Amino acid sequence: HDAVPFYGEHQAGIVTPAQDRLHFVAFDVITDDRAKLVEMLRDWTLAAARMTAGLDAGALGAVGGPAQAPPQDTGEALGLPPSQLTLTFGVGGSLFRDAKGRDRFGIAARRPAALEDLPHFPGDALRPEISGGDLCVQACAQDPQVAVHAVRNLARIGMGVVSVRYSQLGFGRTSSTSTAQATPRNLMGFKDGTANLKAEETDQVRDHLWAAAADGSDWMAGGTYLVTRKIRMTIETWDRTSLAEQEAIFGRDKGEGAPLSGGKEFDEPDFAKVGDDGEPLIADVAHVRLAHPTSNGGARLLRRGYNFVDGSDGLGRLDAGLFFMSYQRDPHKQFVPVQRNLARHDILNEYIRHVSSGLFAIPPGVRDAADYWGAGLF
Ligand code: HEM
Repeated sequence: HDAVPFYGEHQAGIVTPAQDRLHFVAFDVITDDRAKLVEMLRDWTLAAARMTAGLDAGALGAVGGPAQAPPQDTGEALGLPPSQLTLTFGVGGSLFRDAKGRDRFGIAARRPAALEDLPHFPGDALRPEISGGDLCVQACAQDPQVAVHAVRNLARIGMGVVSVRYSQLGFGRTSSTSTAQATPRNLMGFKDGTANLKAEETDQVRDHLWAAAADGSDWMAGGTYLVTRKIRMTIETWDRTSLAEQEAIFGRDKGEGAPLSGGKEFDEPDFAKVGDDGEPLIADVAHVRLAHPTSNGGARLLRRGYNFVDGSDGLGRLDAGLFFMSYQRDPHKQFVPVQRNLARHDILNEYIRHVSSGLFAIPPGVRDAADYWGAGLF
């Protein structure tokens, strides 16, 4: 429950071993004043450095300031350890040009090609009010109170400059981002994250995760891109599906997470292997076949999603699913081909619905106390 270092070449919260809890938030910038935006980003960065170290959001703290003023920290994390809190900051395409086509902050020329809007995918049922956003912050921690506290204090500090567009709580990571972690399970009961890109695969992380200046945007060198998709599961239908069908959908067994072609969890699937009936053991429409790099020109993703349950929907069904998040060097070469393949063919689609979508440029890490989130943009 110690602190994760805030300063560095890359932002924390990406290859950091995935913590158990999430509070993700997207903001709209409600001012056109560039200086005000920059000032808030500086304030945010200082508060983030403090909170990830387990300190109050502001130096005077929750109870150390003048009695007549609102406190510099909201107080609900007093006495709690840092809980491996990471705060990861991102910028959406609408910051560069808003819905009316305006370049409010004089940064349109810096928009990276990789931040082009995602295409529409078959089956998308996106709700605009929980999609997009000018800015985002991914707060991950081992304690939900710590993650919520951090997001709340950033929203408080940003008052008058940003407003919360939507936020999402996640419990239970659905990915491992380090080989040191056991693979967790998603709400369909399957191990999730087995074939994920992991921090220890350093060559792959360099090639598939971090953007370089040569990719076209200097200010993004050492950064990456985040795709978020809120995916609602029709849990009740899934729960009436046979075990054999559930396993066929993913192409892995439910107990161990081993590929249906045989072997153990971390053995490579053998997509060519056929059963006695001459049919492939991993179906052509199975999720792992369609999502596998060999079906997508070698594309890999660093998945870092979370289970969510937003209560129930008033019709006797759980409002539950996966808040999918993936980090990649170029979403148009990685996420997009994979999702295109899945949207067209995946039999899992019978049980899921994509209801929100976000794409954010995640700048490189903050170097020191003089640097700030997104400094390369201004
Ligand atoms: C693999 C579940 C959506 C990309 C897997 C696995 C499970 C799973 C159980 C196998 C274990 C593993 O390697 O992690 C789900 C569920 C989804 C979902 C329940 C929706 C609710 C997506 C989406 C994408 C995606 C939207 C990307 C567009 C991948 C990739 C793999 C994978 C790249 C690894 C394939 C491989 O290399 O073997 N997923 N997934 N998944 N999924 Fe998903």
